[in-house]
Amino acid sequence: MKTTFPENFLWGGATAAMQVEGASDVGGKGLSVSDVYIFDENMPKEQWTDQWHMMTHKQVEEAQDPHSPKYYPKRHGVDFYHHYKEDIALFAEMGFKVYRMSIAWTRIFPKGDELEPNEEGLAFYDRVFDELNKHGIEPLVSLSHYEMPLYLATEYGGWVNRKLIEFYVRFASTVFERYKDKVKYWVPFNEINCVKHHPFVSVGVVEENHPHIEQAKYQGAHHQFIASALAKKACLESNPNAKIGCMISYQLLVPYSCDPDDIQKTVEKQRESLFFTDVLARGYYPGYTARMLADKNVVLETEASDEQIIRDYPVDFISFSYYMSSAVSAHPENLEGAVGNLITGGIKNPYLPTSDWGWQIDPKGLRTALNQLFDRYQKPLFIAENGLGAVDELKEGDVINDDYRISYLRDHILQIKEAITDGVDVFGYTSWGCIDMISASTSQMSKRYGYIYVDQDDLGRGSKRRIKKKSFDWYKNVIASNGEQL
Ligand code: BG6
Repeated sequence: MKTTFPENFLWGGATAAMQVEGASDVGGKGLSVSDVYIFDENMPKEQWTDQWHMMTHKQVEEAQDPHSPKYYPKRHGVDFYHHYKEDIALFAEMGFKVYRMSIAWTRIFPKGDELEPNEEGLAFYDRVFDELNKHGIEPLVSLSHYEMPLYLATEYGGWVNRKLIEFYVRFASTVFERYKDKVKYWVPFNEINCVKHHPFVSVGVVEENHPHIEQAKYQGAHHQFIASALAKKACLESNPNAKIGCMISYQLLVPYSCDPDDIQKTVEKQRESLFFTDVLARGYYPGYTARMLADKNVVLETEASDEQIIRDYPVDFISFSYYMSSAVSAHPENLEGAVGNLITGGIKNPYLPTSDWGWQIDPKGLRTALNQLFDRYQKPLFIAENGLGAVDELKEGDVINDDYRISYLRDHILQIKEAITDGVDVFGYTSWGCIDMISASTSQMSKRYGYIYVDQDDLGRGSKRRIKKKSFDWYKNVIASNGEQL
């Protein structure tokens, strides 16, 4: 049967080590920057995401105290570390062609600056990749998904320090060489543009240490650009057939009105994200860089060879997360702000519904995003994340009727189809959180994205039993029909 989606389209799901693995004290793993986030049900709800945006010194110090009474959900995840066989079997049952996951840097180099890798950590991912291979599932692996070693943040000051390039490239080269026969698709940094939004997990920078925080963010990003390029170089040395992609959080921005000031503001705001793909996909800093950085009073410290390194190793494909869109106004003072994990502090769009967490749901925006990215770069695109965080109710008889999730995903997949018909080259789709896990921004367990329910609450209590939701069979059918039956 002829289908809109290409025959070899990579359908699957995505997770990150810091949200699923748990076992943070097993196999020699070190603490990562994500391991310092707490969940406290007594904390006002509005503050749950605040720590994600701005980490404090006090919290980092407290988190290193082995006797800290606080609960750190990302150290426990949903115990994928011990359940990976069962979880991968469920992914296979849905028919996954690809599984997007990440390698926890701290399992391989627990502090980050060691010269030799931790064999126990490497062996764990061998087991995971072998299990995926057994089921015919292709891994797509992120190397840094908000989980750099905490030690590199506290002792070296994070990515502002150029030494981080060397540590990262050692980590990257180690895993490229080790898994050269098991992994073909690699993503050096998850949502590399989100340094603007949450610098601690992105570049290991505590804002209190940097009176000029914009300088620290862009300097960190510059070092990550070099690291990404050098990672591609190292990857090709291990496996010339490997493909390296960049990954950004793509939040479509639209002008709030046709006021020319709103339009110009939207262009500027959208560029703040596209800047990252511009550098990584084209291999050079775009023309608007000088003005953009000057407006922020940022002066990058660079070395003579940097330009050439970035130019020599542009990415092969562009991957991105898409959850929402938002409006932009040059005069936001009297307008209602949009809430959620927004990278821009956008304006509420009155035409769009929102999720329980305030994220504005805009499926058609995904078609626009795909067209914009393909028009701009003409490189293959991969939708690395998309999904609905919602509260699910487990009813008697292990029933979870998540029709709201099915409807969100269906609406978005329909728009991918439209984009493919528009002529856009999309080669895969991994919905976010194929299995329930800890939320990145709020550290809740009850913000669920999965096709698979995990019996665990916000404080980690529960049997951890895996239960199929209604969406499980729905997605299985989507994959089996290659996107025809939605
Ligand atoms: C993306 C991240 O920004 O959004 C994921 O790459 C994250 O790690 C996802 O989980 C959804 O966000 P949240 O805060 O709902 O978990």
